[in-house]
This record gives sequence, C-alpha cells and structure tokens, in this order.
Amino acid sequence: MLQITDAATVRATVHGWRAAGERIAFVPTMGNVHEGHLRLVDTARAQAARVVVSVFVNPTQFDRPDDFDRYPRTLDADARALAGRGADLLFTPDVETLYPHGLDLAAYVEPTHSAQPLEGEFRPGHFRGMATVVTKLLNLVQPDCAVFGQKDYQQALVVRSMMRDLDVPYRLTVVPTVRERDGLAMSSRNKYLSADERPQAVALWQAIQQARHAVRTAKRGIPASRLRAELRWLIETRPAARVDYLEFFDPRTFQPVSHVCCGTHFALAVFVGKTRLIDNARL
Ligand code: PAJ
Repeated sequence: MLQITDAATVRATVHGWRAAGERIAFVPTMGNVHEGHLRLVDTARAQAARVVVSVFVNPTQFDRPDDFDRYPRTLDADARALAGRGADLLFTPDVETLYPHGLDLAAYVEPTHSAQPLEGEFRPGHFRGMATVVTKLLNLVQPDCAVFGQKDYQQALVVRSMMRDLDVPYRLTVVPTVRERDGLAMSSRNKYLSADERPQAVALWQAIQQARHAVRTAKRGIPASRLRAELRWLIETRPAARVDYLEFFDPRTFQPVSHVCCGTHFALAVFVGKTRLIDNARL
C-alpha cells in the first residue's frame, strides 16, 4: 500500500491507474480505523481494481474545538489495518495540505434541505464542513465511485443530494452499519466511553429494537410523541445517558412523521457521559 501525504502525488498515481484502464473506488475517513471502515474497504475492493482511502481529521466539520483536539489519531495502526484489507493507496494529508490558505475559505459547499434537521440542527456548521471536505477530496482523487456508511445516514444523504445537484459524476455506495456484539454501532468515539459507560451505550441499539417491536405490534402505527417518550425513558434509565434527539421521519423527504409505522426511519443521538453517539435504522 502506498502512503501519500501530498495531493499532486495522489493525483498522478490515480491518473496512472486510470490510464491503465483501472477503476478506482474511494473511501474517505477520519481514521482510528475499525471494522466499520474496513467493511467499506471490502465493498470498495469489490467495485474497483484500485482502492484509495483517506485519513484526515477535518477541522471544518467539528462544531466543538475540544472534540477536534481529542479525536483519536492512530495513523500507524490505521495504515496496518488498511493495508491488511487490501487498500492500494492511503492518502494522509495534513491540515496545511488541504487548507493551504487557512480555514477561512473563499467558497464552501453549503448543503440545504437534507442538512437542516437532526445533526444539522444540533451541530451547526457540521454538514457544511463535511460537504466541503468531501468535495475537495473527490476533486483531488477523482474516483469512479465513493463508499460511505449507513451509520452516518444523514451524511450519506447529504453527500448524495450534493453530488446530484452539483453534477459530481461519481457513483455512491452506502454500506450497512457494522455493530459490536451487543449491538452498539462501531465508532471511533466509542473509545471515549469509560468501563462504566460502555455497557450503558447499548441503550441506542435497544431503543432501535424496541421501536421495531412497537411498529410490528401496533396495527395502525404509533403516535411519534408516545414512542419518543417511551424510548427516552428506556434510554435515560441509564444514569450516564441523556437523549440529544429521537426523530422519526420519512426516509425520502426527511419530513418528521406524526405516526410511526413500518418504513419510517428512526435516528437518534445520545450523550453517554460526555460522549455523543448516533445511530439510525429503518423500522
Ligand atoms: P468517519 O467517522 O471516520 O467515517 C468514515 C466512513 O465510515 C463514513 O462513511 C461512515 O459512515 C463510515 N462508518 C463509520 N462507522 C461505521 C459503522 N459502524 N458501520 C459502517 N460504516 C461506518 O464520516 C466521516 O469520517 C467524515 O465525516 C468524512 C466523510 C471522512 C469527511 O470528513
């Protein structure tokens, strides 16, 4: 696996592969690689002869500076894991490489409708920073397809609609969420959980299961307010858990629903201690 820090070398390498007729798949990440990321690499490998992965902790998408500072950076272990899974090129730019003129850019990608609710409401500026860096990375790598995870459901949707509306000509594949044995969605942020908090974090998965069960057993749907109250209670019986949001919406329009039924999408964000975790599922 090649490990490259500068953009010109990445461009030249990918250009060489394309000239040789090879398809290129791209997996953007912020590193601290876990099995969720590696599953995206597997999918990328199944779709293309060459797999490019980026590891870049993007400062412009963090709404809290302390969250950016303490984000786990484990590049050596990441490189080993990605090479072991068959990535061909690991792009590890530093902040100066991607933002040579500073973080106050002359232009941003500002996603609209799909970026407003949920994470957009609770993390101001997050999707603008994310969409901007994804656009920059796609412009640098110019792959045939990009692979994202369902774990960040709204992110994948924001990227998909941004690519459609700005005619970004790459295919996007979304890979199902990879979970720990007890159902907790894998995430780099799980590392922040103390031994005491870690078992409490399973509350997000239990809320998804309880919502699914409720939808299965109710004949004509359940009022969203009632289900929300039940799930909040389920989650907050854990002493360290505090709900940030529990939302039920139509997966196509993102419009909140008043009645939850089969096919409704459920997304939640929960603080466990100081760690904010997100998850989502189709009910
Ligand atoms: P990061 O959180 O590192 O995630 C990189 C990719 O891995 C995203 O597409 C995310 O949805 C996917 N992913 C993370 N955990 C997963 C899991 N448990 N199962 C399946 N996929 C999972 O998302 C970002 O980085 C950044 O916002 C980025 C897109 C790189 C832009 O900076």
